[in-house]
Amino acid sequence: MADISFAGQVAIVTGAGNGLGRDYALELARRGAKVVVNDLGGSGSGVGASATAAAAVVDEIRAAGGEAVANTSSVASREGGASVVNSALEAWGRVDILISNAGFLRNGRFEDLTDEQIDPILDVHLKAAFYVGQPAYRAMRANGYGRMLFTGSASAMFGHAWQTNYAAGKGAMLGLSNVIALEGSAYGIQSNVLLPTANSRLAAEMDQGFMEIPAFAQALQNADFSTSDGRVVPEFNTPLALYLVSKDCTATHGVYSSNSGRYARVRICAAEGWVAPRGATPPSIEDIASHFDQISELGDFSEPMTVYDEFTAVAKAARKQGVYP
Ligand code: NAI
Repeated sequence: MADISFAGQVAIVTGAGNGLGRDYALELARRGAKVVVNDLGGSGSGVGASATAAAAVVDEIRAAGGEAVANTSSVASREGGASVVNSALEAWGRVDILISNAGFLRNGRFEDLTDEQIDPILDVHLKAAFYVGQPAYRAMRANGYGRMLFTGSASAMFGHAWQTNYAAGKGAMLGLSNVIALEGSAYGIQSNVLLPTANSRLAAEMDQGFMEIPAFAQALQNADFSTSDGRVVPEFNTPLALYLVSKDCTATHGVYSSNSGRYARVRICAAEGWVAPRGATPPSIEDIASHFDQISELGDFSEPMTVYDEFTAVAKAARKQGVYP
């Protein structure tokens, strides 16, 4: 197949001074994109700031003959998000691609999390998606084209102990991206979520204490994480991330996992369930209890792509179960 090119396109990668974002930026530039390399340059737990992380990646891109500008704003503020998008507009007048990737961790047991562990995490993951996403969307909408990729996490989709704050912020990417995909379809804007995995600086932060969790230690052993053949370096996430933001990709409204060289779609589905008898009276709690096996059975599930699809699936289940004529 022909090489996938980003020639002539303008891409924004947030948190591109390290780890996954750095490699996305380098590869986008290698394939012809002009790249805004955003990075605040703080620590793995979001403390401090430095201009060097973004500048080093820009230098690397330029040394290889590519085009890039650095932006050192925090994406966790409305002004910072606007500044990131303005960097693209001032330098090149358009935005084709947004990879919302910046982030950090502040892990803790649910019952112990403080506001200093909750608010900055929701700001950098959930609110930053709005702060950068909204001005980027407006620029894309003006051109009738755009590709957005939001960075979710398996910690949110599947669960990971001591990360309720992070999972709440990352889980929100699902709803956000689904609705952007619906609204954006009229303007050529596609939106997806990536659940990456990498032995990055952030992962090192994450591992602290987790070996105490037997299932975590076992999973790492099963995955041969520590002695891997390199499949958990950030670079293994780049092919799927970049395909999802390419012109060649028509997928939208999706969630995709990249984990140790396994690339897979992840989906939320709804069981056929139990449809209560018709009438104005809601079922009792006991009715729910006595139908709970049927409610939970995933045998005949549907995958609603919109709320409207879900209503259709309910009607189908109701007909199948003889509740609707
Ligand atoms: P990393 O720590 O190597 O890179 C993240 C970058 O984001 C850093 O350079 C940091 O300075 C920057 N950043 C943090 N806060 C910022 C802010 N307010 N404004 C601008 N830049 C900021 O981490 P990594 O692993 O590359 O993570 C990238 C993304 O992938 C994050 O959103 C992370 O939560 C997510 N992720 C990573 C996984 C992994 O296994 N490494 C697993 C699941 C999700």
